[in-house]
Amino acid sequence: MSKLEQSKLPAHVAIIMDGNGRWAKTRNLPRVEGHVQGLESVRNIVTITRELRIPYLTLYAFSKENWSRPRAEVKRLLELLGIFLENELPLMMDEDIRFRVVGDIKDFPKKLQHQLNAAMQKTAGNKTLSLNIALSYSGREEILNAVRLLLKDMDKGDITHIDEKVFQSYLYTRDIPDPDLLIRTSGEMRVSNFLLWQIAYTEIYVTDTLWPDFREDAYMEALREYMKRERRFGSVKENLSGRA
Ligand code: IPE
Ligand code: IPE
Ligand code: MG
Repeated sequence: MSKLEQSKLPAHVAIIMDGNGRWAKTRNLPRVEGHVQGLESVRNIVTITRELRIPYLTLYAFSKENWSRPRAEVKRLLELLGIFLENELPLMMDEDIRFRVVGDIKDFPKKLQHQLNAAMQKTAGNKTLSLNIALSYSGREEILNAVRLLLKDMDKGDITHIDEKVFQSYLYTRDIPDPDLLIRTSGEMRVSNFLLWQIAYTEIYVTDTLWPDFREDAYMEALREYMKRERRFGSVKENLSGRA
C-alpha cells in the first residue's frame, strides 16, 4: 500500500462477525465448527489490522441477545473465548496489542471474567493496536447504563451539564474514537444493537462473505471501498477541508 493510500485508511474498524452458523451448515457441520473456523478469521484480521497500522479494531463477538441461543452453543462460544485469550495473550504482549472488553461481562463464568480482566490489565500499556471485543454487548444497554451513571453523578453534583462529549465519557467506549468503518459479513442489512451511539457517521460496508471466509482479500476489498467513499458529515464537499 502506498503512503497516500495509507493516509486514507480508517483509524477505527468495527466488525459484526456474522455467518459462522451458515458456514457450518453448508458443510453439514455443527454450528460450533463455524465458530472454531471464525476464530481463525479473528487471528487473521487482527494481524492484518496491526500490519496496516490501523490503531483501533472492535469486534462484535457476543451480543446480549446471543444469550438466548441454545445453552450448548453459548457454552462452547465462551470456552472458545477462554482458549483464544490463553493462546493470544503472549502474542498480544509481543505485538504491543491492547485488549479491551466492550460490554457487561458480569454474567460470564467467574474464571472467564478473571481471565478477561487479567488480559486487560496486562495489556493496558500496549499501544500499536487497541483490540476491543464486544461481549454480552447491547448498544441500548450501554446507553441506558450511561444514563444511570450520569444521573448518579448529577445527584452528587459532579456534573452540571450534559453534552455529547460528557455523555460519551459514560459509555463503555469512553476512550475509543467512533468507528470510521463498520463491516458486517454474511449479507444481513442490520446493525443488531451494535454501537448505536458511536456509528452516527460511520461508513457501512456489508459483504456476502461469511465470517469464517473473511480473510485478507475480503478485508482489503472492504478497505478499498471505504477509501473511495466521500464522507460529508452533513456538509457539502467544498466546506469539508480540515475535517479529519
Ligand atoms: C456469528 O455467527 C457469531 C456469533 C453471533 C457469536 P452466527 O452464529 O450468528 O452465524 P449465522 O448468522 O447463524 O450464520
Ligand atoms: C450479531 O449477529 C451479533 C454478533 C455478531 C456477535 P447475530 O447473528 O446475533 O445477529 P442477528 O440475530 O442476525 O440480528
Ligand atoms: Mg448470525
